[in-house]
Amino acid sequence: MKALVLSGGKGTRLRPLTHTMAKQLIPVANRPILYYVMDQIARVGIKEVGVILSPETGPAIQEALALNPWGLAMTFIMQEEPLGLAHAVSTARAFLQDDPFLMYLGDNLVGQDLKGFVETFQMEQPEALILLKAVPDPRLFGVAEINGDGQITRLIEKPKDPPSNLALVGVYLFSSAIHRAIAEITPSWRGELEITDAIRKLLEQGHTIQSLVLKDWWLDTGKKDDLLEANRIVLDEFAQQKIEGKVDDDSKIYGRVELAHGARVRRSTIRGPAVIGENSLIEDAFIGPFTSIGHDCNIQRAVIEHTVLLDRAQVIGVSRLEDSVVGKNAVVKTQETNHTAFRLMIGDDAEVLL
Ligand code: TTP
Repeated sequence: MKALVLSGGKGTRLRPLTHTMAKQLIPVANRPILYYVMDQIARVGIKEVGVILSPETGPAIQEALALNPWGLAMTFIMQEEPLGLAHAVSTARAFLQDDPFLMYLGDNLVGQDLKGFVETFQMEQPEALILLKAVPDPRLFGVAEINGDGQITRLIEKPKDPPSNLALVGVYLFSSAIHRAIAEITPSWRGELEITDAIRKLLEQGHTIQSLVLKDWWLDTGKKDDLLEANRIVLDEFAQQKIEGKVDDDSKIYGRVELAHGARVRRSTIRGPAVIGENSLIEDAFIGPFTSIGHDCNIQRAVIEHTVLLDRAQVIGVSRLEDSVVGKNAVVKTQETNHTAFRLMIGDDAEVLL
């Protein structure tokens, strides 16, 4: 079995971060989202992985995967335009050949080992096995209707009147039948070849589509709040107490805090779970739970909670920052003067809630 990781796309919902970086490389607990995807693939024992790239972010994705601690055989596949998930599959046709494959959206995270999912597919041999998750508001997702045996009977994209609360998670298992289905579909109203249309085509052709309902969490990190939620869950589950940097006598560290090499904490309190990257400075500050701070960040006279700071970000003199994502090299700072006006230099698509 092979894997196909979709790491192209536009990432419009995560602008402005995605103006300068691939959304699959945005860090969660200081590790790119894509690394968690590769962890999952390696864990189920798949060795050959095709990685879909876009021309804009492809080189950065390749560089981020170059170290390859998973020992995976990776094939990089350029998708010249983001013409849809099914289009990405057809772009990877030469790599996939007629082998069954696990398709994984590179910005999705699931909190459950996928071994059982792959074993069910191998045992029951349906044409497709789709991972589903019960969600509170199915109207926002692709939704499946299933029968008593877990077979999918109907698929609807963002239904006004959902037939169930089971949303399609961005993880699928396909046999080669999917290629024939994709060959028969046409672009949707948004100009994309949709994977849900291809799966619907499989249904029309009389194929069996099995489903499994995920018990654990699932997050599509393509939006800010989901990114923060992924950060919260991953820190909650995986953060450890590991202090490699320097903490002075006037500081206190509570709970599971990872302080990387070269990081300095002065006259501050850090309450985990939290991670702080290499060479970052925390001075006269309080860092609250569920905060990830990248490397070379500068935080002074600030209270920060439930926030993701990317590398080299600065937060200075801010009485309280929460539920925020701060991009690379960005500065959030109060002025020394008594002016009450805000002075901003903000990139395209930025959001500032004052
Ligand atoms: P989406 O989040 O559905 O699409 P997008 O990346 O264009 O984002 P936005 O809606 O914010 O503009 O894509 C899911 C995953 O699949 C994501 O990792 C990007 C990837 N993808 C491709 O590799 N090729 C494609 O043609 C598309 C549409 C997405």
